[in-house]
Amino acid sequence: MLRNDFVWGVATSSYQIEGKDEKIPQGECVWDTFIKKEGTIFGGHNADVACDELHKYKRDIPMMANLGIKAYRFSLNWARIIPDGTGRINQEGINYYREVLELLNKYNITPYITLFHWEYPQALFDKGGWLNPDCVEWFGEYAKVVAENFSDLCTNFFTINEPQCVINLGHSLGIHAPGVKMPIRETLQMAHNLLKSHGLAVKNLRKYSKKEIKIGYAPTCGVAYPSTDDPKDIEAARKVYFGFENDIDNWGWNVSWFLDPVVLGEYPKEGLEKFKNYLPKISPEQMKKDLELINQPLDFIGQNIYNGYEIKALTNSKNNSYYERVERYPGFPKTSIQWPITPRAFYYGIKFLSEKYKLPLYITENGMACHDSISADGKVHDPNRITFLDSYISAMQQASDDGADVRGYFLWSILDNFEWANGFDERFGIVYVDYRNQKRIIKDSAFWYKNVIESNGKCLSINDKSNEIIVEDVSETNDYMSLSENETIKFNTIYINDNIDCIKEGLTFIVYEGNAILNSSVLYKGAKVSVPKGLTDICLLGECDIKII
Ligand code: FCB
Repeated sequence: MLRNDFVWGVATSSYQIEGKDEKIPQGECVWDTFIKKEGTIFGGHNADVACDELHKYKRDIPMMANLGIKAYRFSLNWARIIPDGTGRINQEGINYYREVLELLNKYNITPYITLFHWEYPQALFDKGGWLNPDCVEWFGEYAKVVAENFSDLCTNFFTINEPQCVINLGHSLGIHAPGVKMPIRETLQMAHNLLKSHGLAVKNLRKYSKKEIKIGYAPTCGVAYPSTDDPKDIEAARKVYFGFENDIDNWGWNVSWFLDPVVLGEYPKEGLEKFKNYLPKISPEQMKKDLELINQPLDFIGQNIYNGYEIKALTNSKNNSYYERVERYPGFPKTSIQWPITPRAFYYGIKFLSEKYKLPLYITENGMACHDSISADGKVHDPNRITFLDSYISAMQQASDDGADVRGYFLWSILDNFEWANGFDERFGIVYVDYRNQKRIIKDSAFWYKNVIESNGKCLSINDKSNEIIVEDVSETNDYMSLSENETIKFNTIYINDNIDCIKEGLTFIVYEGNAILNSSVLYKGAKVSVPKGLTDICLLGECDIKII
């Protein structure tokens, strides 16, 4: 089971939800400039209104409280607080975020502030942004202002969200703001500056806070997960996950480069070797100082995890590779944004990170984009999202049961919102936003998440032992009956025979209630699937023998 003090939260970022209001003036950030360029955002959308959170927080925070949400991770728009990135402070911006914090505290929702979730002040980008060595001081100054103005109302802070995306999507591929394509040498320099900025921010947050605070950092990366639980596959996956297998052009999608210096105080040797022709020229003495700055003590690390890729160990490969990347089978489950659904990546990502970095871990983002729509009953039913979340959160519990020190989970997102280059095309919320009128409709998944929070995960299918289908080998017994294709039976608990002659790997079953499909899954030996309590119909697509208990 998860810890009793497990932190159940939701996450957002300022640019994706806030919108604009002249009464709360703000400086421009790189996204404001980027979205004005033609062809950058799906449908030419912009975030001038987004979820109108500048005003709707008054309604959304009580709604979150009603949904039982215990913690809220959100980001500050740097240029709303310091319009030019440095210097003059905008009191209206400070007041706005203070009101948000006060309301969260009033409703007993613990705030977790992210300092930087990609809203880089345009004025600073114009001076070179992350490439200008002064960027470290700029971010440090911003962290000081944050500490001085918000630490009385907030105890938990994250410095930077997904530095990998900042570098790759923003400055290498150019598909996110600021939309530039820089050479590897420069992106490596930027990454170093960004890590130093993180370090100075941690120092200044602690130095200028009005009380003792807790600080983490929220990087990301797809997870290499093992094909089977064979130790050889596990070790191969771990090595790939923390290694440097990507092409040099794609160097920035990396876990260790962005976490080792921060947590362990050194750059990984494998990366230093691979990038040696592109590394910034820094003397050993200076590098020592830089690493001291980067390696500030943290209270926890965060990680945004959405999916991963399967790795199989190879012993005698032709090209001397120790692993292969297993191709996804046709029809592999995916979300509306085309990301694969891989709860196993969640389990192994949490485990690998916890084992390597030995700091409390918070899942700072996880969730699913679906094609949600309003049904005839006026509600938004999102069973796919529930299935996704149930499998991922169950995997997280399993990782915790197996020793990972995971302390909290922030579901992305409480609201549908402006999904960057995808505009409003993707819906990640557990609350639907009708952008025509800013109406909120609570999706089924939000009610489901409420139950998860209230029961501290006990209602997850991983814990529901009462009505469980266990795929196991009962071929020794004759105590089973045959079920032909599409035949329906009633059951409470069944065991499915794994005799190779009569059950194919990947058999699909569907659970019905009346005509409605409640659940459908592909079963493998060893798989456990929970079904709703009470008598339910089951239909197997394919022939097999089952044992009814
Ligand atoms: C993450 C971002 C977040 C949101 C989700 C879907 O990469 O941090 O802002 O876009 O993806």
